[in-house]
Amino acid sequence: MEAEGAIIKVVDPCRPLECPALYDMSRPLEVEVGCGRGRFLTGRAAKDPSCEFLGVERMKERVGVFASKARRLGLSNAHVVRLEALYTFHYLLPEHHARRVYVFFPDPWPKRRHHSHRLFGPLFLNALWKRLEIGGRLEFATDHEEYFHVVEECFAGDARFRRVAPMERGPDEWTEFETLFRGQGLPVHAAAWQSLAVEDEKPLAPLSVAPEDEPREGVVRRESRGKEWREEHADSD
Ligand SMILES: C[S@@+](CC[C@H](N)C(=O)[O-])C[C@H]1O[C@@H](n2cnc3c(N)ncnc32)[C@H](O)[C@@H]1O
Repeated sequence: MEAEGAIIKVVDPCRPLECPALYDMSRPLEVEVGCGRGRFLTGRAAKDPSCEFLGVERMKERVGVFASKARRLGLSNAHVVRLEALYTFHYLLPEHHARRVYVFFPDPWPKRRHHSHRLFGPLFLNALWKRLEIGGRLEFATDHEEYFHVVEECFAGDARFRRVAPMERGPDEWTEFETLFRGQGLPVHAAAWQSLAVEDEKPLAPLSVAPEDEPREGVVRRESRGKEWREEHADSD
């Protein structure tokens, strides 16, 4: 059930989202990871009413702003879910349906001891491939050169993807962070990959995270802070 306009309420973080529009195979789907306040995705939703758009974002305030924007613009095809991206891709989305997934300016976690928090890695690529339609595309952009090369290497080592030219985006399709970075004259690195068919497709193995890290109802994210665990609940900020 949808709640609060565009916001999709997560009933169980290990089951498909309760939003029939996302499973309507007659309508294409585009997903943005870390959509922030939705500048990019609500813009696309306004331009293409024939497609469904889903933002995935873990910060409550940003999800709220996305939803207000969608309501103000009268967009019935723009949805947002407040949940960790890896869980969302692993458990909550329809199989091989997204024609595009956007990851723009993901947190680069520059310190070595934080690299494990980075989104891109084998677990995300497995889940991403399963959610993209065959021939669907991942569009990626970042201001962080080192992370850009890490992501390039990640895809280069995965035969289920081939590199393609990234989409061209004008200033009206820049994200909020991108507008800021470009305004400061920072370089933006962009790339895209297309998913390919494989001969013997396997189901996704259960998400191999530590038991204390497993998704549970009401918990949007768990993260270790030194010896402490910090939990974000669906109703927390
Ligand atoms: C640097 S901001 C960029 C926001 C937006 N893409 C833009 O370019 O303006 C990264 C965003 O991704 C969200 N985020 C980071 N990691 C996430 C994850 N694992 N799951 C969901 N959202 C995430 C953050 O809360 C934040 O809003």
